[in-house]
Amino acid sequence: MTEFAMFPFQVYGERDAWWPPDVQNEIDLIAGRAPITAYLELMPLVARRAGKIAARVTAVVNFRYNRHWNELIGQLIHFEALPGQTEVACAMLEEAVQWLRSKGMKAARSGFAAFLDYPYAIDQYGSLPSFLLRNTPDFYHTCFKEAGFTTEKGMSDFTIPLTGPTLASYPAMIRKAADHGIQVKTWREHGFLDAVDRWTDVTNSAFERHWGWNPITREEVRPMLAGLARTEVGDLSTIAIAGGEVVGSVFAVPDFSGRLARLRQGLRLDPQRGGGTRGALINIGVLEPWRGKSVNLAMAALSFSTMAQRRMKYAGYTLVLDDNYPSRRTAQKLGGTVTGNFVVYRRDF
Ligand SMILES: CC(C)(COP(=O)(O)OP(=O)(O)OC[C@H]1O[C@@H](n2cnc3c(N)ncnc32)[C@H](O)[C@@H]1OP(=O)(O)O)[C@@H](O)C(=O)NCCC(=O)NCCS
Repeated sequence: MTEFAMFPFQVYGERDAWWPPDVQNEIDLIAGRAPITAYLELMPLVARRAGKIAARVTAVVNFRYNRHWNELIGQLIHFEALPGQTEVACAMLEEAVQWLRSKGMKAARSGFAAFLDYPYAIDQYGSLPSFLLRNTPDFYHTCFKEAGFTTEKGMSDFTIPLTGPTLASYPAMIRKAADHGIQVKTWREHGFLDAVDRWTDVTNSAFERHWGWNPITREEVRPMLAGLARTEVGDLSTIAIAGGEVVGSVFAVPDFSGRLARLRQGLRLDPQRGGGTRGALINIGVLEPWRGKSVNLAMAALSFSTMAQRRMKYAGYTLVLDDNYPSRRTAQKLGGTVTGNFVVYRRDF
């Protein structure tokens, strides 16, 4: 399991800048110890050449996802492979597909699963990806296409330069929400731990019909986020309140590159990518009855203004489905442009 979880060090270890996996977390997941595994059946697979791992993947039946969407789809997470091992990786993917078929699945997806999997890069291969994302090698596309997969969805990552004119437009967004009786606050002001539970509730409701998502529980989210209470996450994450009810939430992070990324010694990151100057909005949701009232913009505006006060010069707006027009428009109105692109693969059996 350790060899499996450490494999990304072989794939990305020579890069100037990359985000290493949380090895213990991945071991807990494949060992069935993580709370999320109550909803999963997992089968980790490796392909070896001359005794060494050449590729890896974990086939997953996500009962909660399938119940929610009334679908029989399996997920292939943790996919990684070494250069020159396309054939072996393809054979491994076929083996993973056969396992999913044996479990009664009718399709496989790779590149998106709530809390489990993120999509494959189609550009920016060399640079440090946004927090949580991987700038996966370009030949992964060949692996999936040779293994019979097609592109199911496209996604983008946005970047917003926190410059004078952009920052100047934010107070009006907060005022517009206030005119609708909506107040925005940081998680710290509200009370961090209660805000974590509110985030779970808002996300479950706002993302109920969001492609690829499945319901989550307070019990699994608390241990994931509670440890961040003492970080700037509490000051950058926001909620919206109307009539005493929480009607929207934003989860946002500071620039974690100094603490969590692996950087070649002496490397100075492009300030747009990290090095203390890139915060990121990871998730935004507004309850349906409250949409169209500037709740989205007000919550993000408060978050991004706080980032700017803390010397962050860029804000990421991470991972928007190409057909999620309300979210794309939100990113653009906040001053964002697309700075990275990704895809999710699918194979119907
Ligand atoms: C994304 C979200 C937070 C946006 O908040 P919102 O309050 O709905 O925002 P708005 O209703 O003001 O919509 C944002 C913009 O998209 C536009 N829009 C909405 N639906 C649209 C559509 N189908 N096509 C094109 N534009 C659309 C709106 O007109 C608005 O633009 P405008 O201000 O220029 O008129 C909210 O829709 C939501 O919670 N969605 C579900 C969760 C989600 O997708 N989160 C983002 C994940 S990346």
